Amino acid sequence: MNSLDNKPAQTLADLGVTQPDQVAPLFAAVRARFDAEIARTHDESNWNISKIMWLGRKSGVLTQITDNWLKPATPELKRAVGASLNELRAHVESQIESRRAAIESGAEESALLRERIDLSLPGVTRPIGSHHLIRQVFQEIEDIFVSIGFSVVEGPEIETPYYNFEALNIPEFHPVRDDMDTFYLDLPKGAATPLLLRTHTSPMQIRTMEKQEPPVRVIVPGKVYRRDNPDATHSFAFHQIEGLAVDTDITFCDFTGTIEYFVKQFFGPSVKTRFRPSYFPFTEPSVEFDVSCPFCGGTGTAASGGTCSKCKGAAWIELFGAGMVDPAVYGFVNPAHRGGYDAKKVSGFAFGIGIDRLAMLKYGIDDIQVFFQNDVRFLRQFP
Ligand code: FA5
Repeated sequence: MNSLDNKPAQTLADLGVTQPDQVAPLFAAVRARFDAEIARTHDESNWNISKIMWLGRKSGVLTQITDNWLKPATPELKRAVGASLNELRAHVESQIESRRAAIESGAEESALLRERIDLSLPGVTRPIGSHHLIRQVFQEIEDIFVSIGFSVVEGPEIETPYYNFEALNIPEFHPVRDDMDTFYLDLPKGAATPLLLRTHTSPMQIRTMEKQEPPVRVIVPGKVYRRDNPDATHSFAFHQIEGLAVDTDITFCDFTGTIEYFVKQFFGPSVKTRFRPSYFPFTEPSVEFDVSCPFCGGTGTAASGGTCSKCKGAAWIELFGAGMVDPAVYGFVNPAHRGGYDAKKVSGFAFGIGIDRLAMLKYGIDDIQVFFQNDVRFLRQFP
C-alpha cells in the first residue's frame, strides 16, 4: 500500500476532512479494506499478521486512527470519529475472532482427513509369493556347487544344431538324435542356420569353453525342450543343470568325488551312490549315477513291509548321466576362440541333471505334471 492510500497514517486535516458528514465515508473505505484483507486470511500465520496489522497496540490501524484521527480531531468532528471508530473496532475484533474460529475448525477438519486411517485397526495381510519348488531346487544345487568352486552361467534356449548336436560329437543321422527329437523354429527361407529349442543344457559346454580358457568349473541351470509325450515322468519342457569341469589334470577320481559330494549334500549323508556304464556321444567313459533309494533306506522294502513303491524294490534310483569329456569334443571348440582346447593337455568331466525328476525324488512327488499346473494347493506345500 502506498503512503497516499494509507489514510490512518495521516491526520484528518491532511485528508481534507473538516465536516462530520465526511467521516462516515472515510471509515467505510477503511472497513472495506479490512473486509477484503480478512477474506484472504486462510491460515494461522496470515491470521496473526492481520491481527497485528489491525489491532496491534503500537502501530495497528486502529491505534493509528485513534492517534491520528480521534485524538487531534476538532471538537466538531470528535463525536462522529469516536462513534465510527467504536463501530469499526467492534467489527474488526469480531471478524478477527470469527476468522480464527473458522481457521481452527478447518485445520481440525483437514487433520481429521489426514488421519482418517485408523492405526489401531488390524493390518491387511498381503501374501507374498514364494519360489516355485523347481526354483528352490535349482537354488539348493547351485549353492552346493558354488561352495566347491563352481560358478553359475546361463545360455540361450534357442540353439543352432551345431551347438546342440554336432559340436557335442552328435553328427546328423546319429541315432541318439531320435531320443532328443525337438522343436525347430519356422524361419524365413535362406536363414543362415536352422534354429531349435535346445534339447539339453550340454551346448553350454562348448559355448563356455569358447569363452574361457581352462580351468573351467561351471554349472548351467536352465529350461530344455523335447517332443516327449507328457506322462508322470515326462514333460515337453523341463529343467536341467549341466556341470562342466576342465583343467590340465582332472581325473576320474575328481569326477566321482565331486558327484558323491553333491549327492550326499543334497540327499543327506546316509545315501550311497554307484555308477553304471552308459553311453553319451560327448563323454567317454559315460556313466549313469544311481543313489540308494532315500525312501526305503536302500533296502527295496517299504516301512509297511511291502515293496518300496519309489524304487520298485530295486533299492537304487537312477539319478543322472555324466562322464569324462570325450577328447573329440575339445576338437569342436573353435580355435578362433582363444586358441581352442588341446585334447592332449586338458581333461575334464561333465554331467547333466534332470531337475524335475530330482525334485520328485527328494520330495516324494509322483507326477511331474504338477510342476507345470500352477495349482496353489500344490505350490503352498513348498513355501
Ligand atoms: C542328457 O540330456 C545329457 N545332456 C546329460 C549329460 C550331460 C550326460 C553331460 C553326460 C554329460 P538325458 O537325455 O539322459 O541326458 O537327460 C538328462 C536328464 O533329463 C534325465 O536323467 C532326466 O532326469 C531328464 N529328462 C529327460 N527327458 C525328460 C523329460 N521328457 N521330462 C523330464 N525330464 C527329462
